[in-house]
Amino acid sequence: MNLLPLILAKRAGYELDETQIHTFVNAVSTGATPDYQISAFLMAVFFKGMTRNERVALTRAMAESGETLDWSALSAPTADKHSTGGVGDKISLILAPLAVALGMAVPMLSGRGLGFTGGTLDKLESIPGFSTDLDRAAFAKQMAEIGCGLIGQSGSIAPADRKLYSLRDVTGTVESLPLIVSSILSKKIAAGPASLVIDLKVGRGAFMRDLASAQALGTALRETAHDFGRRCTVLFTAMDAPLGLTVGNRPEVVESLEVLAGNGPEDIRDLTLALTSEMALLAGLSATAHEAWSRATAALDDGSALRIFGDIVLAQGGRLDLQAKGWGMPAAAHRAVLTAPVAGHLVDPDARKVGRIAVDLGAGRQRAEDEVDGSAGIIFARPWGASLARGEEIAFIEGADPARVDRAAEALGDVLEVAADPPTPASLFLGILDDAGYHSWQRPDISRRS
Ligand code: URA
Repeated sequence: MNLLPLILAKRAGYELDETQIHTFVNAVSTGATPDYQISAFLMAVFFKGMTRNERVALTRAMAESGETLDWSALSAPTADKHSTGGVGDKISLILAPLAVALGMAVPMLSGRGLGFTGGTLDKLESIPGFSTDLDRAAFAKQMAEIGCGLIGQSGSIAPADRKLYSLRDVTGTVESLPLIVSSILSKKIAAGPASLVIDLKVGRGAFMRDLASAQALGTALRETAHDFGRRCTVLFTAMDAPLGLTVGNRPEVVESLEVLAGNGPEDIRDLTLALTSEMALLAGLSATAHEAWSRATAALDDGSALRIFGDIVLAQGGRLDLQAKGWGMPAAAHRAVLTAPVAGHLVDPDARKVGRIAVDLGAGRQRAEDEVDGSAGIIFARPWGASLARGEEIAFIEGADPARVDRAAEALGDVLEVAADPPTPASLFLGILDDAGYHSWQRPDISRRS
């Protein structure tokens, strides 16, 4: 199929109609067109953008390039969350069972690590035996029995996105608003949840570096989700330093289990509660943010979300021991320790730099075909701003390969900074886009009754 007429039309800034966009996606799906023409079309979109109609047509054609799932037989409202990607972002692992505890059904389609960001699938696969590759029947059975399945984007869901994403990754066309919107939403529309909460990351460790471009993306995501009849709220959150105290697959699973057991770092707990509460509001399961937050807090603290996570792990072949210290997760073969060179306060590290070090350590991939080391990761001993004595432990670097562990420890030592004064605490919650428009997000005051 020759895409030249479409490339020329887009390059000249014309609006393409639904049939032309369908022709493009069809060319991608059938493999009948050379990659250089697909890439040239992507670059034309990158520079000329797309109208709302074009964006919707592209999202629809990509969603329909594979299977679309239908959950109308389930009695619980279906809901999902999507993060635009960050470092130390393990929220999905905690949020999915928590949302089920609140009465939602969560058909969660997750991705692998991308660039310096981590991926939920890689984290889950660091649990011994855990499979994210469920066929349609097994996924449907698990949704009916447990209310949640955690799966990967197999060849059958939005296959056009897989092909386009890999080309965008190597042609400098990732940061395009219509291409990001159609990529995220085609997968979510195909996976079928009725409502979607988006955690739009902003900052030096995110694809969106500034709030203005994040707001433009958030508005386009919400509008397009509405065009498909999906309810959608966008929460804007800071991604300047890693979330929580761990970066890497197995350490992030362990930290998630700690939060599910009612403990763990406050930023992870707060962000999970905020996103799950927004899901409960959108799904119509709570009347107020205060009620949703209280119910979510109770489900973390009474162990119900942890039990549901255990059920999901068991159903997907994973082996954890929820009673054992360390949760039955195997220890890494090698460990290096970083200590404070001087007394002072730990400065919040640059998430992008930490993410890159974790990838080099083996927690992510340099090339698509690389094997991930599930045990590789960084564990910070103290939170940002903590006061440290000289020689006190700051971070542990773990992994299967001693040379990579040593290299990562040296690189992390260059990134971490101990300053005389504590850093100014930064706000995690930047704002929210919902039916009231864009406004600041308020943490519900749980001392007050709803
Ligand atoms: N996540 C996606 O799935 N696609 C994008 O284009 C960006 C983030």
